[in-house]
Amino acid sequence: MQHNKVLILDFGSQYTQLIARRVRELNIYCEIHPFNKIPKEIEGYKAVILSGSPFSVRGENALHPDLTKIRSEKPMLAVCYGAQYLAHFSGGEVAPSNTREYGRANLSFIKPNETFFNNIHEGSQVWMSHSDTIKHLPTNGVLLASTHDVQNAAFKIEGEETYAIQFHPEVYHSTDGKQLLENFLVHIAKVEQDWTPQSFVEETVEELQNKLGNDKVVLGLSGGVDSSVAAMLLHKAIGKNLYCIFVNNGLLRKNEFPDVLDQYKGMGLNVKGVDASARFLDALAGLSDPEEKRKAIGRVFIEVFDDEAHLIEDVKWLAQGTIYPDVIESVSATGGPSATIKSHHNVGGLPDFMKLKVVEPLKTLFKDEVRRVGASMNMEAVLLGRHPFPGPGLAIRILGDITAEKVRILQEVDAVFINGLKEWNLYDKVWQAGAILLPVNSVGVMGDERTYEKCVALRAVESTDGMTADWVNLPYKFLQKTSNDIINKVKGVNRVVYDISSKPPATIEWE
Ligand code: XMP
Repeated sequence: MQHNKVLILDFGSQYTQLIARRVRELNIYCEIHPFNKIPKEIEGYKAVILSGSPFSVRGENALHPDLTKIRSEKPMLAVCYGAQYLAHFSGGEVAPSNTREYGRANLSFIKPNETFFNNIHEGSQVWMSHSDTIKHLPTNGVLLASTHDVQNAAFKIEGEETYAIQFHPEVYHSTDGKQLLENFLVHIAKVEQDWTPQSFVEETVEELQNKLGNDKVVLGLSGGVDSSVAAMLLHKAIGKNLYCIFVNNGLLRKNEFPDVLDQYKGMGLNVKGVDASARFLDALAGLSDPEEKRKAIGRVFIEVFDDEAHLIEDVKWLAQGTIYPDVIESVSATGGPSATIKSHHNVGGLPDFMKLKVVEPLKTLFKDEVRRVGASMNMEAVLLGRHPFPGPGLAIRILGDITAEKVRILQEVDAVFINGLKEWNLYDKVWQAGAILLPVNSVGVMGDERTYEKCVALRAVESTDGMTADWVNLPYKFLQKTSNDIINKVKGVNRVVYDISSKPPATIEWE
């Protein structure tokens, strides 16, 4: 890509991805690389940002890459550990702070007229999170701002376009953090703001055309946002040479298979729906351990997908909807050079034996960007705004063993709940929702009859990435109506409970 790229060197901070997101929000393309793997073609980057870190520059395991090729060559913004690193290795002094420096602080400018502080007001709130502090500035350091507890809160290096800040501009609580990043990137480093969903689509389509030529590509659609947007991009690039396979594992939501298949066909995709419900149910028979259920589903998926892919003559590529958080190499918490790479395959495990090359058109995008890219290709909001749904589907929401009857009951319950959320305009306020069929029967009374039927739990959570989550405070009136509807409409259920557990310590799914 020919963008004005920004390089973010990661020293292992929990906030590194947030820096990248803020930069992208400025319509500037950026990449995260581990501190010990600085890309060779550094020329391609317009500016460099050094992230924070859980480490101390004074520690035995201090991370100190050789930045001589970058320093003074590229405009650089050093954040938190980055700032301490710069000070420590350039003649300054870093020492443990006397007071803990976590949370809010307010900027006092020493040099208020610096471009770095354009449109930022005296007293602006910033967020601190560090236990070391910079006692003395490095050689040629010029102090720009202080806070009540941190004298050297912002400085620059005379004669370079190097800036350093002790606080975190990327977090929400640093009120003018985004403005500060804009001041540095746009007004000091002169990076153009040319990265937009439209430009991404245009460039990616061109790249895909160059890479794939007349080759055939197979892609497993899941009904989710990532695989659907990946399919649309490939469709734009290679049209009918993209062969999409949408497998019904029998564990999807009620009517999801025909509805989503129609939607895909309406988008012009070359898609084949494969109903393999019976094959999945057979493989699941008698299994009640969650991991065994997951493995069985993954195995059958690969078998079905492989059978279908073999029907496509001369197919060369497997496309996947992998996104950026799945591929960012993270700096390990122990600081060793052994960085771990998260691997994740949306199709439930790559069928290696197919010997296909892999193409991943979304692997530089964050989730919200995938949605923006989809919207810029006029994909429907209902498809782009869908809640995440786990690959093993309802199998991990039916606790214990799975039968066709249990799947039917849960699909009905889930449909009442999800349709209700949509009718009450709550669907988009919830990150993920679903129903869980419990392996519990309880006594009820309907009319004059005693019943002894199933109990279901409803779960609705708010989250940004599924890593942490909290239950949603749904209106009592909605819960009341939903519970009534479920018990009245779904035969076999006589009790409904609402899950009020956060993650951690609970998880979103029950299995
Ligand atoms: P947990 O239950 O771990 O879920 O809090 C976090 C997110 O991951 C989804 N999830 C899965 N997705 N295969 C998937 O594709 C799985 O086996 C799986 N298990 C959980 C879950 O729905 C939530 O969005």
